[in-house]
Amino acid sequence: MKPYIILHNSVTLDGSLTGFMPDMELHYRLAGDYEPDANLIGSETIIQGQEMFGNGIPAEVPGDFVQPDRNPVLPLWVIIDSTGKLKGMLHTCRRFEYCRDVILLVSEQTPEEYIRHLEERSYRYIRTRGEKVDLQEALELLADRYNVKRIVTDTGRVLGNLLLDARLVDEVSLLIHPIIKGREAYGMFNDVTAEVSLSLTREEKFDNGCVWVVYKTEYKDPPQA
Ligand SMILES: NC(=O)c1ccc[n+]([C@@H]2O[C@H](COP(=O)([O-])OP(=O)(O)OC[C@H]3O[C@@H](n4cnc5c(N)ncnc54)[C@H](OP(=O)(O)O)[C@@H]3O)[C@@H](O)[C@H]2O)c1
Repeated sequence: MKPYIILHNSVTLDGSLTGFMPDMELHYRLAGDYEPDANLIGSETIIQGQEMFGNGIPAEVPGDFVQPDRNPVLPLWVIIDSTGKLKGMLHTCRRFEYCRDVILLVSEQTPEEYIRHLEERSYRYIRTRGEKVDLQEALELLADRYNVKRIVTDTGRVLGNLLLDARLVDEVSLLIHPIIKGREAYGMFNDVTAEVSLSLTREEKFDNGCVWVVYKTEYKDPPQA
């Protein structure tokens, strides 16, 4: 069975995912309160995060080649990277103290050289059929192999919208910030084609002007095979 998936994002009042500085402390506190087994992250979000908050990419050391021995209650970071664009920077994620370890989702089209790179560094990975990662298959394997039952995904529009279109998202959790981006808005849901109804399950307001709303999803059509 696929894991329960919460799509958790910080947005502006007009639904933009980018162009503002989210309250990171609050964003991650709310994400952590879900006590997820894993965080699912798109490769572009990793690259952008590295550019925004990283301090360059340090050289690898021998410790980067082994799986970290961390508290098993910490979430796994599950990163989709079928083309190997994160080659050479995965250790910046693995070193993060709140990450149990990194698991890669790759596809049958993923270059063999990248697979070797992962194996040399003891990264666990799931390889699905297809050119891009087959999300349904990957999520079921994550549950079966690694006992992942609950996932928080705080990723970008591309992956978020793909998950919604595949009817894989169970909850939408939005931390709405009191900012309007107007014409510059990068609308969080702009590419969704699935018809999704939402029922409000939680709302909370904070002193910084943010409002947190949580919705359960209901899809008009059943999940695609
Ligand atoms: N405000 C927020 O809460 C928030 C949170 C996270 C990110 N962001 C922002 O969002 C932006 C990055 O997001 P993004 O939307 O560009 O990218 P993204 O969601 O981070 O990455 C796209 C992911 O989708 C995968 N993908 C693409 N097509 C696919 C398909 N057909 N089947 C399966 N997987 C597929 C890609 O895999 P491959 O690598 O295999 O192609 C990639 O891993 C950044 O600007 C970041 O700052 C905002």
